[in-house]
Amino acid sequence: MQGVVSVNGTITAADAAVVPVFDHGFLFGEGVYETLRTYGRVPFLFSDHMARLRRSAGMIALPVPWTDADLLVDVEKTMAACGGGDLYIRILVTRGIGDLSYHPTATPAPTLVIITKPLPGFPETTFTEGIRVALVAVRRNHPDALNPQIKSNNLLNNAMAMQEAIRLGADEALMRNQAGCVVECSQSNFFAVTNGVLRTPPLTDGLLPGITRQFVIGLATELGIRVDEGPLLPVEAQGADEAFITGTTREITPVTRIDDAPVGDGRPSTIMSELRQEFRDRTSIFPAS
Ligand code: PDD
Repeated sequence: MQGVVSVNGTITAADAAVVPVFDHGFLFGEGVYETLRTYGRVPFLFSDHMARLRRSAGMIALPVPWTDADLLVDVEKTMAACGGGDLYIRILVTRGIGDLSYHPTATPAPTLVIITKPLPGFPETTFTEGIRVALVAVRRNHPDALNPQIKSNNLLNNAMAMQEAIRLGADEALMRNQAGCVVECSQSNFFAVTNGVLRTPPLTDGLLPGITRQFVIGLATELGIRVDEGPLLPVEAQGADEAFITGTTREITPVTRIDDAPVGDGRPSTIMSELRQEFRDRTSIFPAS
């Protein structure tokens, strides 16, 4: 394992970082997290990620007793120990250490973990040729059971969807909700383009409010591309002219196959490329590291 980790402010090499067994993040998956990346060593959209961390925590009644400024100081200290280049950053807050009980008083203080490591790269062909997603049988959690808007450390639903996609030889898992509409992927949001309109499922259909998703919707709007946040049927995704996924580490990645069928002409195409160029222009304002 590469990287440097802070556990409640104690910074160690990744291999040496430990959280006690009685941490409720380990025992019950009770916690929330954010994945960020840097451009030019600056954590991108930091305050948007912190706002989502607090929203996720609020939805499981988990206190986050640190200000954004406190968290940024800890992130920067951990980054400083991690060497050069752009970094992957994962910030996790768990319910903390306590007896085997769901009672909030069992855990007096939350645990804060910050993982920093070199940014995992994707081969350039990922962007020039696109990826294949599999429409998986595993459905996204129903919002009334476990709301996908909570970016929870409990990732069983996502992991099982991705395991299915891997068995099917795909790069990502495209998931449906209980009503059968496409919602998002195991680690990214999904967009389709039909007749020049950018289509993406609405948050009310049960998906994570991706920071990149929101950023891309903003870019599209600025570029005069019409955005339709509405329910998306699998057949509409399969019949789209273009498709792509968005996510912090994936940025904007073209989807050129859904299962065995090409999307459009099976090549990354116009609107995706326009958005991707704009995204690259916006993120290249940070000095190269
Ligand atoms: N995953 N949907 C799901 C289920 C995700 O896990 C993610 C991000 C996204 C995209 O969100 P954002 O644009 O804020 O990264 C959508 C991160 C990268 C992860 O799990 O590490």
